[in-house]
Amino acid sequence: MAEAAVHRSDSIRDGEVQGSLPEHFDASVYFIGRIHTPFKTRADCPRRGDPEQGPDCTIELDARFADALKGLDAYEHIAVLYWMDQARRDLLVQNPKHDGGLVGTFALRSPVRPNPIALSIARLIRIDGATLTVRGLDCVNGTPLIDIKPEFTGGRKPCHA
Ligand SMILES: C[S@@+](CC[C@H](N)C(=O)[O-])C[C@H]1O[C@@H](n2cnc3c(N)ncnc32)[C@H](O)[C@@H]1O
Repeated sequence: MAEAAVHRSDSIRDGEVQGSLPEHFDASVYFIGRIHTPFKTRADCPRRGDPEQGPDCTIELDARFADALKGLDAYEHIAVLYWMDQARRDLLVQNPKHDGGLVGTFALRSPVRPNPIALSIARLIRIDGATLTVRGLDCVNGTPLIDIKPEFTGGRKPCHA
């Protein structure tokens, strides 16, 4: 069995509440690239990436989308959205610290959610072709990329604004 499938059926902790997911999907996404990090497993990942400390990670954008990077190098920070492919999706209430404290999924940044979309604000170090080097990610090596956007807060203004 694939590793991802094992993770998606992770056991439920004390007090956690499972819900039922809709039978059908409402939309489709394209995985537009892969994120490469030094983190081999979820346990190796930081809880939240640090855009100042790193470590450096690379985003390998599918070459077909490379032209869509035009202008992005004007930004110090970018929003990176990625798909937490090893997360189960059916928990409504979670016990995130394993201490019995129960919190609703939408009050958490947990990857466990109906649509396992993660968002990190990363520092953009450089762009080489379709490869971006960034700091501030917290995902397992190979995690699918779903979008990149410029981040305006705290970064320098884009030259083409
Ligand atoms: C708490 S989430 C935060 C993600 C993002 N920074 C956010 O706020 O949306 C980060 C954790 O997700 C887990 N994780 C990392 N990569 C994953 C993946 N591909 N699938 C499922 N879980 C993952 C790791 O345990 C990591 O510490």
